[in-house]
Amino acid sequence: MCEVICIANQKGGVGKTTTAVNLAASLAVEEKRVLLIDADPQANATTSLGFHRNSIEFNIYHVLIGTKKLSQIIQKTAIPTLHLAPSNIGLVGIEKEFYNHKRNGRELILKKKIEDILDLYDYVIIDSPPALGPLTINALSASNSVIIPIQCEFFALEGLAQLLNTIKILRKEINPDLEIKGLLPTMYSVQNNLSRQVYADLVQHFDGQLIKEVTSKTTIAIPRNIKLAESPSFGKPVILYDVRSQGNMAYQNLARAILKRA
Ligand SMILES: Nc1ncnc2c1ncn2[C@@H]1O[C@H](COP(=O)(O)OP(=O)(O)OP(=O)(O)O)[C@@H](O)[C@H]1O
Ligand SMILES: [Mg+2]
Repeated sequence: MCEVICIANQKGGVGKTTTAVNLAASLAVEEKRVLLIDADPQANATTSLGFHRNSIEFNIYHVLIGTKKLSQIIQKTAIPTLHLAPSNIGLVGIEKEFYNHKRNGRELILKKKIEDILDLYDYVIIDSPPALGPLTINALSASNSVIIPIQCEFFALEGLAQLLNTIKILRKEINPDLEIKGLLPTMYSVQNNLSRQVYADLVQHFDGQLIKEVTSKTTIAIPRNIKLAESPSFGKPVILYDVRSQGNMAYQNLARAILKRA
């Protein structure tokens, strides 16, 4: 059974793409067959894996408008079991296309496209844009679960209530089985008072919703780590850039928690 996991938070720059790319890579290294779908017109997940936005002829936009099948745009990556469905800035045009689509089912376009390839993968990870617009709604509607990265900074929880409310409505109207896999504190820095405070607030108010390691039950938080910030510019997930880095170890822990492995 393939599990589809969306990485979502309408707040910008909180670590969605970093999480999508590195979780996907870590699951693939655990010998799972993984498809990373870049559903953001910024195409940061695409570039993070070493692809030049404009050198790929077909991307997720062509799938969503129906001129290509998802299987026809898939790219292989340096990790044999990790595939990418790339994006491109042209994806901004999709909002107009979606509105031309009949009201009923507009939110389910991506889900329908993913159905064709479910047998080929163990996990599909979807990176979504920083907005609660039609692309994120399509991503959430296509998913079994969602991971919400929360940056350990001031204003961390801004917008969270709105996102949780959107998920509640989606569950009621479109995707009853959508599970919140968890909130994921990102860019956590022990040395920084504010970061520690935000993390403590998260633990106090949302402990039940934080992702835990399987045996130790320790909350998983992604540290602020320079290797995570550098690796996209080398077109590599951090596991291929610096396997020993704290950032890599945190994402490998996250992957094991998803796999429910110790
Ligand atoms: N744990 C981390 N340590 C250090 N830098 C990080 C970490 N996570 C993300 N970054 C950096 O922070 C910036 C924002 O991260 P990222 O692109 O993953 O966020 P995003 O939520 O996808 O942004 P957007 O909303 O624009 O799509 C990037 O430059 C990224 O390299
Ligand atoms: Mg992003």
